[in-house]
Amino acid sequence: MPNIVLLPGDGIGPEIVHEAAQVLEVVNDRFKLGLHIESHLIGGAAIDAQGAPLPESTLKAAQASDAVLLGAVGGPKWDSLPMSDRPEKGLLKIRSGMNLFANLRPALLYPELASASTLKPEVVSGLDLLIVRELIGGIYFGEPRGIEGEPGQRVGFNTDRYSEPEIERIGRIAFEAAQARQGRLCSVDKANVLEVTVLWREVMERLSLEYPDVALSHMYVDNAAMQLVRAPKQFDVMVTGNLFGDILSDAAAMLTGSIGMLPSASMNSDQQGLYEPCHGSAPDIAGQDLANPLATILSVAMMLTHSLKAQDAAQAIELAVKAVLADGYRTQDIATGMSGETVVGCRAMGTQVLNALQKG
Ligand code: IPM
Ligand code: MG
Repeated sequence: MPNIVLLPGDGIGPEIVHEAAQVLEVVNDRFKLGLHIESHLIGGAAIDAQGAPLPESTLKAAQASDAVLLGAVGGPKWDSLPMSDRPEKGLLKIRSGMNLFANLRPALLYPELASASTLKPEVVSGLDLLIVRELIGGIYFGEPRGIEGEPGQRVGFNTDRYSEPEIERIGRIAFEAAQARQGRLCSVDKANVLEVTVLWREVMERLSLEYPDVALSHMYVDNAAMQLVRAPKQFDVMVTGNLFGDILSDAAAMLTGSIGMLPSASMNSDQQGLYEPCHGSAPDIAGQDLANPLATILSVAMMLTHSLKAQDAAQAIELAVKAVLADGYRTQDIATGMSGETVVGCRAMGTQVLNALQKG
């Protein structure tokens, strides 16, 4: 019996996970998946209740599960805590505690949302790219790190580091993803300045000999940021380190109209995965029934595909989301004010997806 752990977290997390969990329950019944689903605490919610952003019980449950669905963590309430006690630490710890080195962030434009993007429809229509981000290494985790010295003279520092095996394992994920797509892989680095990415580039080059059917190219991260907003359709799969991937995936998300549409998967080498929307906890709209639950609902579809091998159930969810958009339902972040749109809240959007699923 596959075990699923829900981690609603903070801000809009509980609202969006509530809608996505209902979708999961429906496909669980319909496709007889036999899922066992339980909820645990993470982030600020866990700090308040148990004094730590990732309680041992949550990590244990996640490690023992087949897949985790996470909402979002963080908020102003916990912003003044020292770095090591903040909600975000819970997220970073669960990523490394489950060894989730491969973060897949697809940016797909639904035709109905072409006009919701801040870019011209012709620049983004048909957009379908995948960012493969290394998730448990690089400057996010590198040692030494810290803030040291006398007041007024202190120095803050972090370390960006990748070993060849770390680069190779994320490289393989990206090459394989490119093989299953259009066969084009762009590796993003800053090899004109940073040694860590000189090594990155070398390893990608070496790997490319094993994947002759994939066309490998390299791009400096500053150029990649520019190309993403200039001509994003040139990309098929992009592979990059933790920090560059964090930044570029937010930019890619916005191409699709709203970061509220983007799901993500974080995988280890045992097909175990943590699935979460790319967006954050949005404290400014939390608890107001304004959030867009679609990124979380689509994260459930990714979970079904990658961890549960239930492709038919995943497809049913994706079709339901498409149908709801085609029917004109929009949360405020993807509304354009055009006729034919019905602006709805988080709960109503979730209900529409459930209805579409039941019809489909
Ligand atoms: C993301 C987020 C996280 C990250 C934060 C919340 C720690 O921005 O998943 O992209 O930087 O990885
Ligand atoms: Mg981010």
